[in-house]
Amino acid sequence: MKTKILVTGGTGYIGSHTAVELIQQGFEVVIADNLSNSFEWIVDRIQQITGVRPQFYNADLTQLDQTKKIFQENPDIKGVIHFAAIKAVGESVKKPLLYYQNNINGLLNLLQVMNEYQCKCFVFSSSCTVYGQPDVLPVNEISPILPPLSPYGNTKQISEQIIQFQSDVTTLQSVILRYFNPIGAHESGLIGELPIGVPNNLIPFITQTAIGKREVLNVFGNDYQTPDGTCIRDYIHVTDIAKAHIIALERLLQEKIETQIEVFNLGTGKGYSVLDVIHAFEKVSHQNVNYKFVPRRDGDIEQIWADTTLANQKLGWKARLSLEDMVSSAWNWEQKIQDL
Ligand code: UD1
Repeated sequence: MKTKILVTGGTGYIGSHTAVELIQQGFEVVIADNLSNSFEWIVDRIQQITGVRPQFYNADLTQLDQTKKIFQENPDIKGVIHFAAIKAVGESVKKPLLYYQNNINGLLNLLQVMNEYQCKCFVFSSSCTVYGQPDVLPVNEISPILPPLSPYGNTKQISEQIIQFQSDVTTLQSVILRYFNPIGAHESGLIGELPIGVPNNLIPFITQTAIGKREVLNVFGNDYQTPDGTCIRDYIHVTDIAKAHIIALERLLQEKIETQIEVFNLGTGKGYSVLDVIHAFEKVSHQNVNYKFVPRRDGDIEQIWADTTLANQKLGWKARLSLEDMVSSAWNWEQKIQDL
């Protein structure tokens, strides 16, 4: 009997890569997604890669009845990996209520139904955004949580606190994973990041500019206190991120966690500037990226990268793929999605 896992947001960017890894590790996957920022054909792609078709629910977790239905029909779900959330920082500033309604209500319903069905293993998708601009780099898991710069970031902080309080009074056991900057695509080129409309994030903007969909990439700021003046981030391959979820889940299922909640940074431990990323992309793709410097983007932090010691030691996990792997897989994916 395979262990059944619910992946919310499973047709999304990180969710789909994690669904693939789960299936390849022998888990049975149930996906729930409201398709607000993804497509049902991603389920076909997951099947194409793995040879197994996950069960799919077009479900909105903010609707309690829709969340319940998944568990009513699958009372044997043993664990949940919760990706379903909206994540555009700028949009969240313009529509704060939408972000709280969606990201918080979805989590509340999910935790309530998990409790009813005595499903206690929970992996939560959090973000390095909870650290704001840290005073000390690299940033580790006990670094202070700073006041949020956006409603989006605030929903991640609040979600972590909700999970903590729920754990205090139930058997819920959770691993919270704080991602740095996930980029890249699956090696098959069948799944990857699919921004709808104009991308907010750096990598899809680079690949869309290189392929001719966008005229010019705006580099936000070249007057930061960094070696080349552009912001620094800890970019990490989405496949490395996905694999960490399987390890976290197994740790929960095998009751190996040491406290009811464990928190891990998921990064490579290396910081790259915006220009480093552009140059790495140009090198592997043999394309020139048309870019120009423009003023800083509101809310951007100057630099951040992860201390990954805890994840390395406790999870036995380490990011394996290089910046070149990240940008070349993103380029491969961009070229393939032209045919869609
Ligand atoms: C942001 C959030 C992060 C969230 C992620 C998901 C913060 C501090 N970070 O990451 O929590 O999980 O979005 O969407 O809120 N850049 C350009 N030109 C562009 C796009 C980006 O120069 O067209 C630069 C940015 O200024 C930044 C870097 O590229 O320095 C990375 O930006 P992006 O990919 O948007 O990610 P973050 O802002 O780091």
